[in-house]
Amino acid sequence: MNEINEPLQNLEEWEDFLKVRYPEDQKGQSEIKPFQAIDSNKKQEEFRNYEVDARPTVREFYRLNHRFQTFDFVQAKRREFLSLNRRKMGVWEAMEYLNTLVDDSDPDTDLSQLEHLLQTAEQIRQDGHPRWFILTGLIHDLGKMLCLYGEPQWAVVGDTFPVGCAYSERIVFHQFFADNPDSREPKYQTRLGIYEEGCGLDNVCLSWGHDEYIYQVVKDHLPQEGLYMLRYHSFYPAHKEGEYTHLMNEQDRKMFEWVRAFNPYDLYTKSHARPNVKELRPFYEDLIAEYLPAKLSW
Ligand SMILES: [Fe+2]
Ligand SMILES: [Fe+2]
Repeated sequence: MNEINEPLQNLEEWEDFLKVRYPEDQKGQSEIKPFQAIDSNKKQEEFRNYEVDARPTVREFYRLNHRFQTFDFVQAKRREFLSLNRRKMGVWEAMEYLNTLVDDSDPDTDLSQLEHLLQTAEQIRQDGHPRWFILTGLIHDLGKMLCLYGEPQWAVVGDTFPVGCAYSERIVFHQFFADNPDSREPKYQTRLGIYEEGCGLDNVCLSWGHDEYIYQVVKDHLPQEGLYMLRYHSFYPAHKEGEYTHLMNEQDRKMFEWVRAFNPYDLYTKSHARPNVKELRPFYEDLIAEYLPAKLSW
């Protein structure tokens, strides 16, 4: 593994950091409820403690992410990957492909990628949510196969943020944006940047990663609520910090309640029991077939 470009031992190191930053609520975290930014009353110093306590590997990961995710980089990656002409794969096949990702996870204690997907979906199912919601949980991280195409960690995972306008102060490790060439482009550094007030997130480019990729692969097949969950599940500055509402339209605001409803299943199910892949497979094969074609373009 190229250690300069790949500081994390595995992708979960980023998510472990998020769990520390956004601890699980006591109760009712999966309910659909009006939004309150989680840290609205916290002082700036408290907020910065997450950075002080972060592992050096996580810190370095964010440094690279904030340095290299420029507006032009995002456009280039969209051109490179969103023609979806790499592979034809069904969802289960894609899950098995993602599972070939070899990193420094501990197979005795860490869940595999496939197990994380099943566990997320199983928890959604146990809470009695609709079938499209369960399916959304099952596929939400398949975009991480970008790693298998040789993409660096900082271009696959990480909290996403809009490019082409000012960086929210509430993005973690904000100081690393000083090394991003876009921070010296005045047109990208106003509150709205290249966008218009209330233009809607569909017109906004976020930093490149696994969310946009899976969204594009399945966008013709799932209900809007599920598509929002896929496309914005890493957009923590918006769904956890309440930032960038000036770029949202009415639909975004409504749909972000679903993005927030999804987040606990992604973040807090990892310690639960290991799913039995063989037993669960028939249920999920049926669910996949209900919504998605036998082969998708990746
Ligand atoms: Fe994810
Ligand atoms: Fe996930």
